[in-house]
Amino acid sequence: MSSQLLEGKRGIIFGALDSNSIAWKVAENAHAYGAKFVLTNAPVAMRMGEINKLAEATSSEIIPADATSTEDLENLFTKAEEILGGKLDFVLHSIGMSVNVRKGRHYTNLNYDWLEKGWDVSAVSFHKVMQTAWKLDSMNEWGSIVALTYMAAQRTFPDYNDMADNKAYLESIARNFGYHFGTKKKVRVNTISQSPTMTTAGSGVKGFDGFIRFAEKTSPLGNASAQECADYVITLFSDLTRKVTLQNLFHDGGFSNMGISDAVMEQFMANEE
Ligand code: NAI
Repeated sequence: MSSQLLEGKRGIIFGALDSNSIAWKVAENAHAYGAKFVLTNAPVAMRMGEINKLAEATSSEIIPADATSTEDLENLFTKAEEILGGKLDFVLHSIGMSVNVRKGRHYTNLNYDWLEKGWDVSAVSFHKVMQTAWKLDSMNEWGSIVALTYMAAQRTFPDYNDMADNKAYLESIARNFGYHFGTKKKVRVNTISQSPTMTTAGSGVKGFDGFIRFAEKTSPLGNASAQECADYVITLFSDLTRKVTLQNLFHDGGFSNMGISDAVMEQFMANEE
């Protein structure tokens, strides 16, 4: 990783909780590729203190912000520009949480207060992040905004619960805000639809272990790791992808276009002659 693909670029990275987090790997990568950035997470997530290690390793500052609070976001974007010495070239939204998933509520019995909370954190926060950047005019031309999503937005995965609807909403926000950001400010907005990945958010999903093995056996290239996702994110932050926008980009080893693989079929053929 000696290439300085992101030399001179400045950004904000949301969502590094611990060293398993996809955002953590993106921060390590972005640092290695020459970018400067501010790290942020919800004040409650700061209590674990893990993020301090990442800040030290990447020579970056931390500004706490609850991504559902426009006040916190305004403070974050204003301070980030001050700290980094100019407007921003990239933003990573790597945030997800469903109270219904956490508390094991079935999709046919959702608690709607919890649904609203999860929707705000997982989907609307992406609009709030972009609206803040828009109003403060924080993005440089040809900047790149990326959010992470999952294929349950398009296809049915019962245990993904209300997060499936949140991801559909998130992807829609990317297209709709991406239109305005592209037209007026030449900033691109995309979502990356990542393989199931062993992180705090991922492993909260019921039956995740079995599902991750199924996806591994279905995908021609196998599941994409958090590190591989971070590599892909760097390409989207770089100038090599300047005309890619309004896209939901599958980064899943080919899973999204599969029907069934030989490896999965074998498990069902075992007792046949
Ligand atoms: P993670 O648990 O490490 O990251 C989720 C982050 O969201 C945490 O850092 C958490 O503190 C933050 N967060 C929660 N509420 C917040 C709030 N109110 N304000 C600011 N930040 C808040 O897990 P992971 O897997 O790295 O998740 C990152 C993104 O990737 C999420 O959008 C997730 O849905 C997505 N994703 C994850 C997959 C997986 O299997 N792990 C698969 C596809 C997408």
